[in-house]
Amino acid sequence: MAKQKTVWFCTECGNKQPKWSGQCIACTQWNTYQEELEISSLPRRFEAQALTASRPVKLREVKLQETPRVLTQIGEFDRLIGGGVVPGSLTLVGGDPGIGKSTLLLQISNAFAQQGLIVLYVCGEESVEQTSMRAQRLGIHTDHLLLLSETNFTHIKNQIDQINPDILIVDSIQIVYKAEISSAPGSVTQVRETTTEFMHIAKGRGIATFLIGHVTKSGEIAGPRVLEHLVDTVLYFEGDKQHHYRMIRVVKNRFGPTDEIAVFQMKGCGLVEVPNPSEIFLEERRKDVVGSVIIPTLEGSRPILIEVQALVTETAFSTPSRRSTGIDQNRLALLLAVLEKRMGFQLFKIDVFVSVAGGLRIMEPAIDLGIIAAVASSMRNCSLDSETSVVGEIGLGGEVRSVPRLESRLKEAIHMGFRRCIVPKFNLKGISEDIRQKISLTGVEFVEEAIHVLLK
Ligand SMILES: Nc1ncnc2c1ncn2[C@@H]1O[C@H](COP(=O)(O)OP(=O)(O)OP(=O)(O)O)[C@@H](O)[C@H]1O
Ligand SMILES: [Mg+2]
Ligand SMILES: [Zn+2]
Repeated sequence: MAKQKTVWFCTECGNKQPKWSGQCIACTQWNTYQEELEISSLPRRFEAQALTASRPVKLREVKLQETPRVLTQIGEFDRLIGGGVVPGSLTLVGGDPGIGKSTLLLQISNAFAQQGLIVLYVCGEESVEQTSMRAQRLGIHTDHLLLLSETNFTHIKNQIDQINPDILIVDSIQIVYKAEISSAPGSVTQVRETTTEFMHIAKGRGIATFLIGHVTKSGEIAGPRVLEHLVDTVLYFEGDKQHHYRMIRVVKNRFGPTDEIAVFQMKGCGLVEVPNPSEIFLEERRKDVVGSVIIPTLEGSRPILIEVQALVTETAFSTPSRRSTGIDQNRLALLLAVLEKRMGFQLFKIDVFVSVAGGLRIMEPAIDLGIIAAVASSMRNCSLDSETSVVGEIGLGGEVRSVPRLESRLKEAIHMGFRRCIVPKFNLKGISEDIRQKISLTGVEFVEEAIHVLLK
Protein backbone atom coordinates (compact mmCIF):
# COMPACT_ATOMS: atom_id res chain seq x y z
CA MET A 1 0.00 0.00 0.00
CA ALA A 2 1.31 3.40 -0.93
CA LYS A 3 2.30 5.68 1.92
CA GLN A 4 -0.32 8.31 2.65
CA LYS A 5 0.80 11.89 2.41
CA THR A 6 -0.10 14.39 5.10
CA VAL A 7 -1.25 17.85 4.12
CA TRP A 8 -2.34 20.92 6.06
CA PHE A 9 -5.75 22.46 5.63
CA CYS A 10 -7.03 25.84 6.81
CA THR A 11 -10.22 25.11 8.75
CA GLU A 12 -11.63 28.55 7.94
CA CYS A 13 -11.31 28.63 4.17
CA GLY A 14 -10.09 25.17 3.23
CA ASN A 15 -6.78 26.27 1.75
CA LYS A 16 -4.39 23.33 1.35
CA GLN A 17 -0.62 23.43 1.69
CA PRO A 18 2.15 20.91 2.28
CA LYS A 19 3.41 22.57 5.48
CA TRP A 20 2.04 24.12 8.64
CA SER A 21 2.06 27.87 9.00
CA GLY A 22 0.74 30.21 11.66
CA GLN A 23 -1.32 32.40 9.39
CA CYS A 24 -3.37 31.29 6.41
CA ILE A 25 -2.08 32.90 3.23
CA ALA A 26 -5.54 32.70 1.67
CA CYS A 27 -7.83 34.12 4.35
CA THR A 28 -5.25 35.67 6.73
CA GLN A 29 -6.72 33.94 9.80
CA TRP A 30 -4.29 32.81 12.49
CA ASN A 31 -3.85 29.29 13.88
CA THR A 32 -6.30 27.63 11.55
CA TYR A 33 -4.07 25.00 9.96
CA GLN A 34 -4.72 21.40 10.79
CA GLU A 35 -2.94 18.28 9.67
CA GLU A 36 -4.89 15.73 7.63
CA LEU A 37 -4.15 12.69 5.55
CA GLU A 38 -4.52 13.23 1.86
CA ILE A 39 -7.25 10.99 0.51
CA SER A 40 -5.92 8.10 -1.51
CA SER A 41 -7.64 7.56 -4.84
CA LEU A 42 -10.68 5.45 -4.11
CA PRO A 43 -12.08 3.25 -6.86
CA ARG A 44 -15.25 5.33 -6.90
CA ARG A 45 -14.93 8.53 -4.97
CA PHE A 46 -18.52 9.62 -4.59
CA GLU A 47 -21.12 7.01 -3.72
CA ALA A 48 -24.01 9.27 -4.56
CA GLN A 49 -22.74 10.32 -7.98
CA ALA A 50 -24.70 9.25 -11.06
CA LEU A 51 -23.18 6.26 -12.86
CA THR A 52 -23.71 7.42 -16.42
CA ALA A 53 -21.64 10.19 -17.89
CA SER A 54 -23.61 13.19 -19.10
CA ARG A 55 -23.61 14.58 -22.65
CA PRO A 56 -23.87 18.18 -23.84
CA VAL A 57 -27.34 19.44 -24.80
CA LYS A 58 -28.27 22.41 -26.98
CA LEU A 59 -29.51 25.28 -24.90
CA ARG A 60 -32.80 25.50 -26.80
CA GLU A 61 -33.43 21.80 -26.35
CA VAL A 62 -33.08 21.84 -22.59
CA LYS A 63 -36.34 20.62 -21.17
CA LEU A 64 -37.40 22.89 -18.38
CA GLN A 65 -39.67 21.10 -16.03
CA GLU A 66 -41.80 23.53 -14.19
CA THR A 67 -40.82 22.57 -10.70
CA PRO A 68 -42.54 25.11 -8.55
CA ARG A 69 -40.81 26.28 -5.42
CA VAL A 70 -42.08 24.83 -2.21
CA LEU A 71 -43.27 27.41 0.28
CA THR A 72 -42.56 26.81 3.93
CA GLN A 73 -45.45 29.11 4.88
CA ILE A 74 -43.03 30.84 7.22
CA GLY A 75 -43.41 34.10 5.34
CA GLU A 76 -40.14 35.70 6.36
CA PHE A 77 -38.13 32.61 5.52
CA ASP A 78 -39.75 32.19 2.11
CA ARG A 79 -39.04 35.82 1.29
CA LEU A 80 -35.47 35.44 2.53
CA ILE A 81 -34.57 32.64 0.15
CA GLY A 82 -36.22 34.31 -2.82
CA GLY A 83 -39.74 32.89 -2.73
CA GLY A 84 -39.67 29.38 -1.41
CA VAL A 85 -37.38 26.37 -1.55
CA VAL A 86 -36.19 25.07 -4.92
CA PRO A 87 -36.42 21.26 -5.20
CA GLY A 88 -32.96 19.76 -5.54
CA SER A 89 -31.25 22.75 -4.01
CA LEU A 90 -28.51 22.50 -1.41
CA THR A 91 -28.63 25.09 1.38
CA LEU A 92 -26.08 25.66 4.10
CA VAL A 93 -27.24 27.18 7.36
CA GLY A 94 -24.36 28.49 9.45
CA GLY A 95 -24.16 30.17 12.82
CA ASP A 96 -22.63 30.29 16.27
CA PRO A 97 -23.32 27.47 18.74
CA GLY A 98 -26.73 27.68 20.37
CA ILE A 99 -28.04 30.47 18.17
CA GLY A 100 -31.02 28.48 16.93
CA LYS A 101 -30.02 26.53 13.84
CA SER A 102 -31.62 23.27 14.88
CA THR A 103 -34.72 25.12 16.05
CA LEU A 104 -35.17 26.86 12.72
CA LEU A 105 -34.69 23.72 10.68
CA LEU A 106 -37.02 21.72 12.86
CA GLN A 107 -39.68 24.37 12.34
CA ILE A 108 -39.04 24.33 8.60
CA SER A 109 -39.21 20.52 8.62
CA ASN A 110 -42.56 20.76 10.31
CA ALA A 111 -43.80 23.29 7.78
CA PHE A 112 -42.94 20.88 4.96
CA ALA A 113 -44.33 17.89 6.78
CA GLN A 114 -47.61 19.74 7.28
CA GLN A 115 -47.90 19.91 3.50
CA GLY A 116 -47.54 16.15 3.21
CA LEU A 117 -43.88 16.13 2.16
CA ILE A 118 -41.62 13.50 3.67
CA VAL A 119 -38.82 15.04 5.70
CA LEU A 120 -35.79 13.09 6.83
CA TYR A 121 -34.03 14.86 9.71
CA VAL A 122 -30.58 13.46 10.35
CA CYS A 123 -29.75 14.49 13.89
CA GLY A 124 -26.21 13.26 14.24
CA GLU A 125 -25.38 15.84 16.83
CA GLU A 126 -28.16 15.04 19.25
CA SER A 127 -30.08 11.90 20.07
CA VAL A 128 -33.51 11.25 18.62
CA GLU A 129 -34.91 11.87 22.11
CA GLN A 130 -33.30 15.28 22.41
CA THR A 131 -34.61 16.31 19.03
CA SER A 132 -38.09 15.06 19.79
CA MET A 133 -38.02 16.93 23.09
CA ARG A 134 -37.31 20.09 21.14
CA ALA A 135 -40.07 19.19 18.70
CA GLN A 136 -42.47 18.83 21.60
CA ARG A 137 -41.51 22.24 22.95
CA LEU A 138 -42.10 23.71 19.50
CA GLY A 139 -45.49 22.01 19.32
CA ILE A 140 -44.61 19.74 16.42
CA HIS A 141 -46.58 16.53 15.97
CA THR A 142 -46.43 15.01 12.54
CA ASP A 143 -45.98 11.60 10.98
CA HIS A 144 -44.19 12.92 7.96
CA LEU A 145 -41.10 13.90 9.89
CA LEU A 146 -38.59 11.08 10.34
CA LEU A 147 -35.68 11.43 12.73
CA LEU A 148 -32.47 9.54 12.10
CA SER A 149 -29.61 9.55 14.56
CA GLU A 150 -26.70 8.56 12.35
CA THR A 151 -23.32 9.98 11.42
CA ASN A 152 -21.92 7.45 8.95
CA PHE A 153 -22.60 8.75 5.45
CA THR A 154 -23.10 5.33 3.86
CA HIS A 155 -25.79 4.47 6.41
CA ILE A 156 -27.47 7.81 5.89
CA LYS A 157 -27.46 7.24 2.14
CA ASN A 158 -29.00 3.78 2.57
CA GLN A 159 -31.82 5.33 4.57
CA ILE A 160 -32.33 8.00 1.92
CA ASP A 161 -32.54 5.25 -0.71
CA GLN A 162 -35.21 3.47 1.32
CA ILE A 163 -37.27 6.41 2.48
CA ASN A 164 -36.88 8.60 -0.59
CA PRO A 165 -37.65 11.85 1.25
CA ASP A 166 -38.67 15.14 -0.36
CA ILE A 167 -36.63 17.16 2.10
CA LEU A 168 -33.39 16.21 3.80
CA ILE A 169 -31.94 18.00 6.84
CA VAL A 170 -28.43 17.22 8.08
CA ASP A 171 -27.69 18.48 11.60
CA SER A 172 -24.76 18.99 11.35
CA ILE A 173 -22.45 18.46 8.38
CA GLN A 174 -19.40 18.52 10.66
CA ILE A 175 -20.43 15.33 12.39
CA VAL A 176 -21.09 13.23 9.28
CA TYR A 177 -18.18 11.13 8.04
CA LYS A 178 -17.25 8.72 5.33
CA ALA A 179 -15.60 5.61 6.71
CA GLU A 180 -13.15 5.33 3.79
CA ILE A 181 -11.55 8.64 4.68
CA SER A 182 -9.11 8.47 7.53
CA SER A 183 -9.44 12.10 8.66
CA ALA A 184 -11.64 12.83 11.66
CA PRO A 185 -15.27 14.01 11.26
CA GLY A 186 -15.31 17.78 10.97
CA SER A 187 -11.96 17.93 9.20
CA VAL A 188 -11.76 19.84 5.96
CA THR A 189 -11.49 16.67 3.90
CA GLN A 190 -14.47 14.96 5.55
CA VAL A 191 -16.67 18.02 5.43
CA ARG A 192 -15.88 18.64 1.77
CA GLU A 193 -16.36 15.06 0.71
CA THR A 194 -19.61 14.54 2.57
CA THR A 195 -20.99 17.85 1.32
CA THR A 196 -20.17 16.84 -2.25
CA GLU A 197 -22.00 13.58 -1.64
CA PHE A 198 -25.05 15.45 -0.38
CA MET A 199 -24.82 17.70 -3.42
CA HIS A 200 -25.02 14.64 -5.68
CA ILE A 201 -28.00 13.38 -3.67
CA ALA A 202 -29.78 16.73 -3.85
CA LYS A 203 -29.18 17.29 -7.57
CA GLY A 204 -29.57 13.67 -8.63
CA ARG A 205 -32.86 13.05 -6.91
CA GLY A 206 -34.34 16.49 -6.57
CA ILE A 207 -34.29 16.43 -2.78
CA ALA A 208 -34.12 19.89 -1.24
CA THR A 209 -31.29 19.51 1.24
CA PHE A 210 -30.35 21.69 4.20
CA LEU A 211 -26.98 21.31 5.88
CA ILE A 212 -26.29 22.87 9.26
CA GLY A 213 -22.73 24.07 9.77
CA HIS A 214 -21.03 25.52 12.82
CA VAL A 215 -19.12 28.72 12.54
CA THR A 216 -15.74 28.18 14.05
CA LYS A 217 -12.63 30.11 14.78
CA SER A 218 -11.11 27.55 17.09
CA GLY A 219 -9.62 25.55 14.27
CA GLU A 220 -10.81 22.17 15.50
CA ILE A 221 -13.55 21.67 12.99
CA ALA A 222 -13.93 23.08 9.52
CA GLY A 223 -16.35 25.98 9.26
CA PRO A 224 -19.08 26.64 6.71
CA ARG A 225 -16.76 28.93 4.77
CA VAL A 226 -14.99 25.86 3.48
CA LEU A 227 -18.25 24.83 1.82
CA GLU A 228 -19.66 28.09 0.54
CA HIS A 229 -18.75 27.44 -3.08
CA LEU A 230 -20.15 23.90 -3.07
CA VAL A 231 -23.71 24.77 -2.11
CA ASP A 232 -26.45 26.78 -3.83
CA THR A 233 -27.51 28.94 -0.94
CA VAL A 234 -25.74 30.07 2.21
CA LEU A 235 -27.67 31.44 5.18
CA TYR A 236 -25.96 32.79 8.27
CA PHE A 237 -27.43 33.50 11.66
CA GLU A 238 -26.35 36.84 13.06
CA GLY A 239 -26.95 38.70 16.27
CA ASP A 240 -25.67 38.01 19.72
CA LYS A 241 -27.32 35.78 22.24
CA GLN A 242 -27.88 38.62 24.72
CA HIS A 243 -30.66 39.82 22.47
CA HIS A 244 -33.67 37.71 21.71
CA TYR A 245 -33.49 38.65 18.08
CA ARG A 246 -31.92 36.45 15.47
CA MET A 247 -31.07 37.82 12.07
CA ILE A 248 -30.64 35.42 9.20
CA ARG A 249 -28.71 36.79 6.27
CA VAL A 250 -28.43 35.34 2.77
CA VAL A 251 -24.73 35.37 1.91
CA LYS A 252 -25.06 33.50 -1.34
CA ASN A 253 -28.07 32.43 -3.37
CA ARG A 254 -28.16 30.83 -6.78
CA PHE A 255 -31.94 31.19 -6.87
CA GLY A 256 -32.56 34.63 -5.46
CA PRO A 257 -31.08 37.89 -4.28
CA THR A 258 -28.30 38.02 -1.69
CA ASP A 259 -27.93 40.27 1.34
CA GLU A 260 -31.58 39.79 2.13
CA ILE A 261 -32.19 39.47 5.87
CA ALA A 262 -35.03 38.16 7.97
CA VAL A 263 -35.51 38.89 11.63
CA PHE A 264 -36.84 36.34 14.09
CA GLN A 265 -37.42 36.42 17.78
CA MET A 266 -36.36 33.47 19.91
CA LYS A 267 -39.16 32.34 22.18
CA GLY A 268 -39.99 29.20 24.11
CA CYS A 269 -42.18 28.05 21.23
CA GLY A 270 -39.36 28.58 18.72
CA LEU A 271 -38.37 31.31 16.31
CA VAL A 272 -41.18 33.74 15.66
CA GLU A 273 -41.15 35.99 12.60
CA VAL A 274 -40.73 39.70 13.06
CA PRO A 275 -42.42 41.22 10.03
CA ASN A 276 -41.62 44.78 11.06
CA PRO A 277 -38.05 44.87 12.39
CA SER A 278 -37.91 48.67 12.68
CA GLU A 279 -40.37 48.47 15.54
CA ILE A 280 -38.17 46.21 17.62
CA PHE A 281 -34.94 48.03 16.81
CA LEU A 282 -36.46 51.33 17.91
CA GLU A 283 -38.38 49.81 20.80
CA GLU A 284 -35.91 50.78 23.51
CA ARG A 285 -35.05 54.11 22.02
CA ARG A 286 -35.12 57.13 24.33
CA LYS A 287 -35.81 60.42 22.67
CA ASP A 288 -33.48 63.41 22.94
CA VAL A 289 -30.44 61.37 23.89
CA VAL A 290 -27.09 62.87 22.96
CA GLY A 291 -25.21 60.84 20.35
CA SER A 292 -28.24 58.93 19.07
CA VAL A 293 -29.24 59.01 15.40
CA ILE A 294 -31.94 57.12 13.51
CA ILE A 295 -30.96 55.86 10.07
CA PRO A 296 -33.18 54.22 7.44
CA THR A 297 -30.96 51.39 6.19
CA LEU A 298 -31.66 48.87 3.52
CA GLU A 299 -30.88 45.24 4.12
CA GLY A 300 -31.42 43.41 0.86
CA SER A 301 -34.80 44.62 -0.30
CA ARG A 302 -36.00 45.52 3.16
CA PRO A 303 -35.76 48.97 4.71
CA ILE A 304 -35.13 48.92 8.45
CA LEU A 305 -34.82 51.90 10.76
CA ILE A 306 -31.94 51.51 13.15
CA GLU A 307 -30.50 53.55 15.95
CA VAL A 308 -26.80 54.30 15.95
CA GLN A 309 -25.27 55.57 19.17
CA ALA A 310 -21.96 57.30 19.65
CA LEU A 311 -20.08 58.20 22.78
CA VAL A 312 -16.95 60.33 22.87
CA THR A 313 -14.78 60.81 25.94
CA GLU A 314 -11.39 62.25 26.57
CA THR A 315 -8.77 59.55 26.37
CA ALA A 316 -6.58 58.58 29.28
CA PHE A 317 -3.90 57.11 27.06
CA SER A 318 -1.55 58.33 24.41
CA THR A 319 -3.44 56.60 21.60
CA PRO A 320 -7.19 57.08 21.59
CA SER A 321 -9.38 54.04 21.08
CA ARG A 322 -12.03 53.65 18.44
CA ARG A 323 -14.50 50.87 19.15
CA SER A 324 -17.49 49.86 17.13
CA THR A 325 -20.12 47.17 17.28
CA GLY A 326 -22.36 46.51 14.32
CA ILE A 327 -20.30 48.59 11.90
CA ASP A 328 -16.92 48.14 10.30
CA GLN A 329 -14.04 49.45 12.39
CA ASN A 330 -12.09 50.70 9.37
CA ARG A 331 -15.11 52.54 8.07
CA LEU A 332 -15.41 54.28 11.43
CA ALA A 333 -11.75 55.34 11.31
CA LEU A 334 -12.27 56.79 7.85
CA LEU A 335 -15.38 58.71 8.89
CA LEU A 336 -13.60 60.14 11.92
CA ALA A 337 -10.77 61.31 9.67
CA VAL A 338 -13.30 63.08 7.44
CA LEU A 339 -14.92 64.66 10.48
CA GLU A 340 -11.57 65.85 11.75
CA LYS A 341 -10.57 67.32 8.41
CA ARG A 342 -13.86 68.96 7.48
CA MET A 343 -15.12 70.09 10.85
CA GLY A 344 -11.83 70.67 12.64
CA PHE A 345 -12.86 68.36 15.52
CA GLN A 346 -9.80 67.45 17.57
CA LEU A 347 -10.37 63.73 17.72
CA PHE A 348 -6.78 62.65 18.31
CA LYS A 349 -7.18 62.87 22.09
CA ILE A 350 -10.68 61.47 22.21
CA ASP A 351 -11.98 57.92 22.55
CA VAL A 352 -14.87 57.14 20.23
CA PHE A 353 -17.39 54.34 20.73
CA VAL A 354 -20.08 53.66 18.16
CA SER A 355 -22.69 50.94 18.24
CA VAL A 356 -25.80 49.84 16.41
CA ALA A 357 -28.58 49.19 18.90
CA GLY A 358 -30.17 45.75 18.95
CA GLY A 359 -27.16 43.72 17.79
CA LEU A 360 -27.68 44.27 14.08
CA ARG A 361 -24.66 44.40 11.79
CA ILE A 362 -24.84 46.98 8.99
CA MET A 363 -22.54 46.85 6.03
CA GLU A 364 -23.96 49.40 3.63
CA PRO A 365 -22.20 52.78 3.40
CA ALA A 366 -25.52 54.65 3.45
CA ILE A 367 -25.21 54.80 7.23
CA ASP A 368 -22.04 56.95 7.03
CA LEU A 369 -23.73 60.29 7.48
CA GLY A 370 -25.73 58.95 10.42
CA ILE A 371 -22.56 57.75 12.14
CA ILE A 372 -20.90 61.12 11.61
CA ALA A 373 -23.97 62.88 12.95
CA ALA A 374 -23.99 60.65 16.03
CA VAL A 375 -20.32 61.36 16.76
CA ALA A 376 -20.81 65.09 16.17
CA SER A 377 -23.85 65.08 18.45
CA SER A 378 -21.81 63.52 21.24
CA MET A 379 -18.89 65.91 20.60
CA ARG A 380 -21.15 68.93 20.86
CA ASN A 381 -23.19 67.38 23.65
CA CYS A 382 -26.36 68.28 21.81
CA SER A 383 -29.13 65.90 20.84
CA LEU A 384 -30.82 65.66 17.46
CA ASP A 385 -34.45 66.41 16.86
CA SER A 386 -36.26 63.17 17.74
CA GLU A 387 -38.38 63.17 14.58
CA THR A 388 -35.47 63.50 12.19
CA SER A 389 -33.66 60.63 10.49
CA VAL A 390 -30.42 60.78 8.52
CA VAL A 391 -29.09 58.89 5.52
CA GLY A 392 -26.16 59.30 3.12
CA GLU A 393 -22.82 57.88 2.07
CA ILE A 394 -19.70 59.94 2.73
CA GLY A 395 -16.81 60.28 0.29
CA LEU A 396 -13.24 61.00 1.33
CA GLY A 397 -13.67 64.64 0.39
CA GLY A 398 -16.52 65.02 2.87
CA GLU A 399 -19.13 64.99 0.11
CA VAL A 400 -22.48 63.34 0.76
CA ARG A 401 -23.10 60.71 -1.91
CA SER A 402 -26.41 59.36 -3.06
CA VAL A 403 -27.85 56.13 -1.68
CA PRO A 404 -29.82 53.42 -3.49
CA ARG A 405 -33.62 53.24 -3.21
CA LEU A 406 -34.18 56.30 -1.07
CA GLU A 407 -37.94 56.13 -1.60
CA SER A 408 -38.40 52.82 0.18
CA ARG A 409 -36.24 54.08 3.03
CA LEU A 410 -38.37 57.20 3.34
CA LYS A 411 -41.57 55.18 3.28
CA GLU A 412 -40.32 53.19 6.24
CA ALA A 413 -39.35 56.41 8.05
CA ILE A 414 -42.82 57.84 7.42
CA HIS A 415 -44.35 54.59 8.60
CA MET A 416 -42.39 54.86 11.85
CA GLY A 417 -43.55 58.42 12.41
CA PHE A 418 -40.54 60.47 11.32
CA ARG A 419 -41.29 63.94 10.03
CA ARG A 420 -37.99 64.89 8.54
CA CYS A 421 -35.03 63.28 6.82
CA ILE A 422 -31.60 64.60 5.94
CA VAL A 423 -30.74 63.06 2.57
CA PRO A 424 -28.05 63.40 -0.11
CA LYS A 425 -28.84 66.32 -2.42
CA PHE A 426 -28.37 64.15 -5.51
CA ASN A 427 -31.14 61.83 -4.36
CA LEU A 428 -33.76 64.57 -4.15
CA LYS A 429 -34.69 64.63 -7.83
CA GLY A 430 -36.28 61.21 -7.96
CA ILE A 431 -38.57 61.60 -4.97
CA SER A 432 -42.29 61.66 -5.69
CA GLU A 433 -44.60 64.45 -4.58
CA ASP A 434 -46.61 62.01 -2.53
CA ILE A 435 -43.62 61.25 -0.28
CA ARG A 436 -42.49 64.87 -0.05
CA GLN A 437 -45.86 65.76 1.40
CA LYS A 438 -45.50 63.25 4.19
CA ILE A 439 -41.90 63.91 5.18
CA SER A 440 -39.83 67.05 4.97
CA LEU A 441 -36.59 66.46 3.08
CA THR A 442 -33.38 68.43 3.41
CA GLY A 443 -30.80 67.70 0.74
CA VAL A 444 -27.16 68.15 1.75
CA GLU A 445 -23.97 68.15 -0.33
CA PHE A 446 -21.28 68.19 2.33
CA VAL A 447 -20.82 66.81 5.83
CA GLU A 448 -20.58 70.22 7.46
CA GLU A 449 -23.88 71.29 5.92
CA ALA A 450 -25.59 68.24 7.40
CA ILE A 451 -24.12 68.85 10.83
CA HIS A 452 -25.07 72.50 10.68
CA VAL A 453 -28.68 71.58 9.89
CA LEU A 454 -28.84 68.83 12.51
CA LEU A 455 -27.12 70.52 15.44
CA LYS A 456 -28.24 74.08 15.46
N1 LIG B 1 -37.32 26.63 26.78
C1 LIG B 1 -36.77 27.56 26.00
N2 LIG B 1 -37.32 28.80 25.95
C2 LIG B 1 -36.81 29.74 25.18
N3 LIG B 1 -35.73 29.58 24.41
C3 LIG B 1 -35.15 28.39 24.44
C4 LIG B 1 -35.62 27.33 25.22
N4 LIG B 1 -34.81 26.27 25.01
C5 LIG B 1 -33.87 26.67 24.14
N5 LIG B 1 -34.06 27.94 23.78
C6 LIG B 1 -33.27 28.73 22.85
O1 LIG B 1 -32.82 27.91 21.83
C7 LIG B 1 -31.42 28.09 21.66
C8 LIG B 1 -30.79 26.82 21.20
O2 LIG B 1 -31.32 26.56 19.92
P1 LIG B 1 -30.73 25.43 18.97
O3 LIG B 1 -30.44 24.21 19.77
O4 LIG B 1 -31.64 25.36 17.83
O5 LIG B 1 -29.36 26.10 18.54
P2 LIG B 1 -28.28 25.48 17.58
O6 LIG B 1 -27.78 26.62 16.76
O7 LIG B 1 -28.80 24.28 16.88
O8 LIG B 1 -27.18 25.07 18.62
P3 LIG B 1 -26.01 23.99 18.47
O9 LIG B 1 -24.92 24.72 17.78
O10 LIG B 1 -25.67 23.66 19.87
O11 LIG B 1 -26.56 22.86 17.69
C9 LIG B 1 -30.93 28.53 22.99
O12 LIG B 1 -29.78 29.33 22.88
C10 LIG B 1 -32.08 29.33 23.53
O13 LIG B 1 -31.97 30.66 23.09
MG1 LIG C 1 -28.17 22.26 16.91
ZN1 LIG D 1 -7.66 30.19 5.35
